Amino acid sequence: MQMKKMRSQKPHNQRTDSTKDSILNNSLLHSIAKWSVSTFLLITMDTKSVEAENGSEFKAHMFSSSSELLQKLQEKWSSVKKKPYPAMYSSIFGGIILDPAMMVIPIDDHMVHRGHGVFDTAIILNGYLYELDVHLDRFLRSAVSARISSPFPRSTLRSILVQLTAASQCKKGTLRFWLTAGPGDFLLSPAGCPTSAFYAVVIDDDFSQCKEGVKVITSSIPMKPRLFATVKNVNYLPNVLAKMEAEDKGASASIWIDEDGYVAEGPNVNVAFITHDKELVLPFFDKILSGCTAKRLLELAPKLVEQGRLKSVKTANLTVDEAKGAAEMMYVGSTLPLLPITVWDEQPIGDGNVGELTMALSDLLWEDMVAGPETQRHCVSYDQ
Ligand SMILES: Cc1ncc(COP(=O)(O)O)c(C=O)c1O
Repeated sequence: MQMKKMRSQKPHNQRTDSTKDSILNNSLLHSIAKWSVSTFLLITMDTKSVEAENGSEFKAHMFSSSSELLQKLQEKWSSVKKKPYPAMYSSIFGGIILDPAMMVIPIDDHMVHRGHGVFDTAIILNGYLYELDVHLDRFLRSAVSARISSPFPRSTLRSILVQLTAASQCKKGTLRFWLTAGPGDFLLSPAGCPTSAFYAVVIDDDFSQCKEGVKVITSSIPMKPRLFATVKNVNYLPNVLAKMEAEDKGASASIWIDEDGYVAEGPNVNVAFITHDKELVLPFFDKILSGCTAKRLLELAPKLVEQGRLKSVKTANLTVDEAKGAAEMMYVGSTLPLLPITVWDEQPIGDGNVGELTMALSDLLWEDMVAGPETQRHCVSYDQ
C-alpha cells in the first residue's frame, strides 16, 4: 500500500526544507528500512563487527526504530567534512533529497538484484551542463533496448536533471542518472514491478584537462557482445574486471579487442588514433558504446583538417598491429575529455611522448566544454 501511494506522487523539486522534512516522515522511513536493510547493514558495520563476523560472538544489531537508524546514518555523514553528493532525485520519493543519509534506493528495485537498469552521465562545468541532450537521447535509446519505459516524458526528465543540478549548487562535477524497471519483487521477470523508477545524483568532482600520457594493456577479460556493449546498461562487471586487471599491471586502463581482431574500446572510454599519415581514426561504433565525447570529437576535429594539421577524420576498423603502429593514441570520454596514451602492452606509441595532435584535439574538446555553443551547454540557474 505504502509503495503504491508513493509511486503515484508527482515530483516536487523545490529546494526547500519542507521537501526534506516531508521525506523524513515516519511512514517513509519505515519503507526505506524495509527496502534497504542490506545497504544499511553494510554502511553501519564497523571494522570491529567485520572482525567478529568469523566468530560465533557476532550479533547483528537490530534497529529498534526508523529514527534510531536515521540518527546513526546522519551521525556517520556528519563526520564527513565535505559531502561528495550534494543532491539526489528519486521518483520513488517523488522529489529532491539533500540529506545524504536518505540517498537510498529500494533493495527490491529490479536494477539492484537483476541489473535491469540503464544510466548515463553528463558533466557539470563552470555551472553549465555539457551535452545534456546528447546524453539524454542515448539514455532513452538504452532504455528502449532494455525494455524500460520512463515514468516521465523526456522533457520532464530533462527538467528534473536541471532542477537537481541547481539544487545541488554544484558548479563542477558529474550528474549521473538511471532508469530502472523499478521496485516490486525479487523475481527475474519485471512483471511484478508496476512502475519504472528514475534516480539521479550530483557528485562534486574536480577534473581538468589531462596532459600526461598513460599506459594501457590489452584486456584479457572478454568484452560484452554487441547487444550489451551498445546499450549503456548497469552491467559493468566486465568493465570493472578489465579496469582492475589494468591496475594490477600498473596500467591506467585496458583496451578491448573484438572477436574479429579489431580494436574496440576501453572499459568506460572510447579510443582514438592518429596515423603516421595524420589521419584521426576512431573504431566504428557498431559493437561498442556510441560515446558522446567521441562523437563530438568527430564533429570538432575537421577544424584541424581546415588548418592543415590533420589530413582526415574517419571511423574505420583497425587491427591491433595497425593501432599499435599509430603515431598517437588517446582515450576519449566524458570526464577526461581526452587522455593521451603513450604506452600499450609495454610498447611505446609513436615516440612514446604525448602527441602534438592529441593535445590539439584535447584543446578543441576542452574549449568546447568551457566556451562552446549553447547547443552543447545548458546554463544552470542556481538561484531558483
Ligand atoms: C564502455 C564505454 N565506452 C565509452 C564511453 C565513453 O562515452 P562518453 O563519451 O559518452 O562518456 C563510456 C562512458 O561511459 C563507456 O562506459
